[in-house]
Amino acid sequence: MKFLGILSVFVAIAITPAFACEEGHEHEHERRDSSVKPQTPTVSIASPTVPLVWGDINIIHTTDSHGWLLGHQKTSPPEPNYSGDFGDFSSFVQHMKAEADRRGVDLLLIDSGDLHDGTGLSDGFPAGGVDAHDSNAIFSELPYDVLAIGNHELYIYANTLDVYQNFAPKWNGRYLSSNVNITVADKHGNAVSTPVGSRFTKFKTKRGRKVTSLGVLYDFTGNDKNTTVQPVAAMVQEAWFKEAIQEQPDVFVLVGHMPVQRDNWPLVFNAIRAVHPLTPILILGGHTHIRDCVQLDNRSMSLESGRYMETVGWLTVKLDDNKSNKPLTFSRRYLDPNRVTYQFHTGLGNLLFNTLQGITISAQLQGLAKRFDLSQAFGTAPQDYFLSRAAFTSNQSLPGFFIREVVPFAISVNNSRASIPNVILSNSGSQRFDLFAGSFTKNDQLTVSPFTDAFQFIENVPFSVASQILDDLNDSNLPSRKRAEESMAELYRRGDVSMRFNEWLQDQWERAPVERRTAQNLTVGYVTTDSCPGAGDDTLHSPLTFFEVPDFIGSNLPNVSSSDLIDVVFLDFIASSVVTILNQIVAGTDTQNFSTADVKSYTDILTNEVFGVYAQAKWN
Ligand SMILES: *[C@@H]1O[C@H](CO)[C@@H](O)[C@H](O)[C@H]1NC(C)=O
Ligand SMILES: *[C@@H]1O[C@H](CO)[C@@H](O)[C@H](O)[C@H]1NC(C)=O
Ligand SMILES: *[C@@H]1O[C@H](CO)[C@@H](O)[C@H](O)[C@H]1NC(C)=O
Ligand SMILES: *[C@@H]1O[C@H](CO)[C@@H](O)[C@H](O)[C@H]1NC(C)=O
Ligand SMILES: *[C@@H]1O[C@H](CO)[C@@H](O)[C@H](O)[C@H]1NC(C)=O
Ligand SMILES: *[C@@H]1O[C@H](CO)[C@@H](O)[C@H](O)[C@H]1NC(C)=O
Ligand SMILES: *[C@@H]1O[C@H](CO)[C@@H](O)[C@H](O)[C@H]1NC(C)=O
Ligand SMILES: *[C@@H]1O[C@H](CO)[C@@H](O)[C@H](O)[C@H]1NC(C)=O
Ligand SMILES: *[C@@H]1O[C@H](CO)[C@@H](O)[C@H](O)[C@H]1NC(C)=O
Ligand SMILES: *[C@@H]1O[C@H](CO)[C@@H](O)[C@H](O)[C@H]1NC(C)=O
Ligand SMILES: *[C@@H]1O[C@H](CO)[C@@H](O)[C@H](O)[C@H]1NC(C)=O
Ligand SMILES: [Zn+2]
Ligand SMILES: [Zn+2]
Repeated sequence: MKFLGILSVFVAIAITPAFACEEGHEHEHERRDSSVKPQTPTVSIASPTVPLVWGDINIIHTTDSHGWLLGHQKTSPPEPNYSGDFGDFSSFVQHMKAEADRRGVDLLLIDSGDLHDGTGLSDGFPAGGVDAHDSNAIFSELPYDVLAIGNHELYIYANTLDVYQNFAPKWNGRYLSSNVNITVADKHGNAVSTPVGSRFTKFKTKRGRKVTSLGVLYDFTGNDKNTTVQPVAAMVQEAWFKEAIQEQPDVFVLVGHMPVQRDNWPLVFNAIRAVHPLTPILILGGHTHIRDCVQLDNRSMSLESGRYMETVGWLTVKLDDNKSNKPLTFSRRYLDPNRVTYQFHTGLGNLLFNTLQGITISAQLQGLAKRFDLSQAFGTAPQDYFLSRAAFTSNQSLPGFFIREVVPFAISVNNSRASIPNVILSNSGSQRFDLFAGSFTKNDQLTVSPFTDAFQFIENVPFSVASQILDDLNDSNLPSRKRAEESMAELYRRGDVSMRFNEWLQDQWERAPVERRTAQNLTVGYVTTDSCPGAGDDTLHSPLTFFEVPDFIGSNLPNVSSSDLIDVVFLDFIASSVVTILNQIVAGTDTQNFSTADVKSYTDILTNEVFGVYAQAKWN
């Protein structure tokens, strides 16, 4: 990477940004220099049009970044809109901090957790490494004021331990885990349970305002052994909690990995309101990966800022004399993290925008990607494949492509059973991210299909029986399916947010009138409707098309006769459902019934490898 305009970099640090946008001047937002990010096209540019509103306390918020520190690098819509990397973000933060100083107001940078699991930068480490250890080191170069732990910091003990030993100590007591402990051995070898970070923090802002902060995790149950998550309802009864909130600050800044609606924030909020009826309360939530805002009363606002560095949140409040229950003035905005957005809101051109630290961080991220060999290509994808933007029956459906093409091919390679006809069954949630046209790399494999599920099978199933299983898995009237639905709440407690996220996407699509869906002057992206006054999205978009995908999906049926015996292949964790349904189908017939003892391993290949195997063979 070339270091362009080093001189102007120093100039940018030295001078106060002009922020001319706020005076309503027109700007030419040049695209990033091609030597910095070669993949970004130079076609029409969707830009913010309205300057940010500043208050006395201003917050830039990230959450659920999941390793997306290099930004989104694909050229298919809407990915370029999220193409800002953490170097660009660092430059943005630095300029905004300078602007806050110029205005004599406070600007806090806050993160609500889930730094692990999501891209090659976090997950592509060589054997013997620890997830997100290196990406978190780069993340730590940003001047965060308060951070909270997420559930993805707790699935694997080694990751939590790394956060406890290497990440939390970097933040001078501002990495918060109010209700999350880790068990470690003390110097006498005794196991002791201790908060991963701090339970709370009290600090003074640059402008001398007193802040009390907590860092709360929702009632998560999927955590590893030797980590502890205390229910929120129990936390607010703790003596330390009552003591921490006793003193009145100028503002409570409650950070947490918990959605701002339909979860337990009111427990924390009400406990504080009982003591401080008028003190401003700002809540920075996360976890369900959506853009959302709500006011629990008129002297409080709660913001949730999406996921995967697809959103940077902005929340501000103008303080008053705390003497009446008059509403406070708040503002909030969901920014698309790209250079056009950042430059619009800082009023800086392409070269003046880059700070030295920003350029350094971009280079470090590229260096890490290189060290992890993330651009190692399996092949070139001819088109986009979507999780929910294409009908399951369409050839642009990622779950459809996975079950109809990719898995049947990948699990047949080097497999002595390949010549025996089969049906393959999976849940549709086995993929995490869209697969975009172009080079399909190690990074894409980790992003699109990271889960390590095994393929199992039952042999000698009559085709007439095998061909019915899928419909029964999907049939909401069957008892097994009812049980599955009842377990949705359990899936949520264990950290699965796909139901909530898809509900949000579906709502955006169904709410939008035809003119908005087809607007020629808008690019596709998130179209947020939340519970706070005024518009939230910084850049207007038309909504992403949404199709519901069946919960369970199957490969194309083989062309055999009904009495032929075939293999039924399925992901390991639906094995018991498949056996139950098989027995429901054969009950009362001559066909013998099945048991879990009939389940065998089909191949050593796991779900996180199938796209690589397919791409290597078919996309070269
Ligand atoms: C947003 O993405 C669209 C493609 O959907 C692209 O044309 C546009 O230039 C992008 N805008 C920015 C600011 O990157
Ligand atoms: C938990 O950690 C302690 C201290 O390191 C260790 O002695 C104990 O075996 C661990 N427990 C489990 C279930 O791994
Ligand atoms: C967390 O650690 C603290 C300090 O060691 C301890 O007092 C508390 O009981 C622990 N909480 C839980 C829920 O394990
Ligand atoms: C603000 O909320 C308080 C109580 O929570 C209420 O008494 C007051 O009427 C509200 N003000 C407005 C303008 O809604
Ligand atoms: C609000 O109340 C706090 C606590 O009493 C006080 O420190 C602060 O100065 C008050 N704010 C204003 C604007 O008066
Ligand atoms: C996908 O389907 C469309 C029409 O439905 C067809 O034109 C296109 O060639 C198909 N693409 C592939 C890769 O099969
Ligand atoms: C299949 O076997 C060949 C030869 O042993 C090997 O090179 C190849 O990697 C194997 N493919 C898969 C997907 O296991
Ligand atoms: C897009 O076009 C529509 C109709 O032509 C117009 O009403 C709307 O203001 C335009 N939106 C933007 C963001 O330019
Ligand atoms: C189950 O999903 C399949 C698609 O794989 C679909 O063909 C079938 O109609 C679905 N059944 C029900 C009852 O939804
Ligand atoms: C199915 O197999 C039969 C006989 O083997 C053959 O005649 C028929 O064309 C096949 N159908 C399809 C759709 O391939
Ligand atoms: C399987 O069949 C045997 C005897 O035919 C019966 O005892 C057993 O309960 C059946 N098991 C299931 C799961 O239906
Ligand atoms: Zn997350
Ligand atoms: Zn989460």
